[in-house]
Amino acid sequence: MKKFRFLLVSLLVFGLIFVLTGCGGGEEAGKAQGEGETEKLVIKAGADAAYAPMEYKNPESGEVEGFDADLIRAIGEAVGLEVDIKHVDWDGLFPALESGDINCIISSMTITDERKKIVDFSDPYFEATQIIAVRKGSDIKGLEDLVGKKVGVQQNTTGHYAVEELEGMKDEDIKKFPTTPDALINLTNGLVDAVVADAPVVLNYIKHNPDAGLVTVTDDFEKEYYGIAVKKGNKELLDKINEGLAKVKKNGTYDELYKKYFE
Ligand code: ARG
Repeated sequence: MKKFRFLLVSLLVFGLIFVLTGCGGGEEAGKAQGEGETEKLVIKAGADAAYAPMEYKNPESGEVEGFDADLIRAIGEAVGLEVDIKHVDWDGLFPALESGDINCIISSMTITDERKKIVDFSDPYFEATQIIAVRKGSDIKGLEDLVGKKVGVQQNTTGHYAVEELEGMKDEDIKKFPTTPDALINLTNGLVDAVVADAPVVLNYIKHNPDAGLVTVTDDFEKEYYGIAVKKGNKELLDKINEGLAKVKKNGTYDELYKKYFE
């Protein structure tokens, strides 16, 4: 129900942007003025860069870095397209795509049927699952134990949806944060008793914050697959992205990146 309401609100927001900017043609999306008459296709990616090691801001340069950033740059290189990547808050990603501010999302976004109604996804590029983070010594040993506890999530993520779907879970016990690190900080602080979020990001956080006093609990969460999202119907860009993705998987670049960030 919640999910549905979110979708509905998103659709309304998109509709509004659409009408206000009068951008039926979407000409500006992904096109930069090239030499003379020809318009050059550019990959303009958005990522919620509070998600190490997938996407984060380099504290000095402010540039978006991480697995996703490297991957989209490699994809661009493989198909001869320039890549621009910038931070956009998680809840702002779909509106930014709709307005043409960006023309694709690479933000560890899980391919879901609901999202497929509003965007088109590339071939899957990463497999992940949810994981539960708790404070050391917690009596939470699995999903069922979350009922009756305060659970932190990044709002409108698949972790949020997984907690919502738990039988007996009360909405008031789900604490929604704008970013995953916000949820994890509040777990250390004691505001919530557990956090449910993407495993690679939670594990990375714990590794780099040994003093946070957190450990993980696994359960049989479904496998999730990340995809790169484009505006519905943007086949030109989607084809290029899929072509580039296939190339970097084949030529070893993908494996190198995987090693760089996860081994
Ligand atoms: N994979 C989850 C989802 O699609 C969470 C992704 C959050 N990404 C981020 N950069 N904050 O809902």
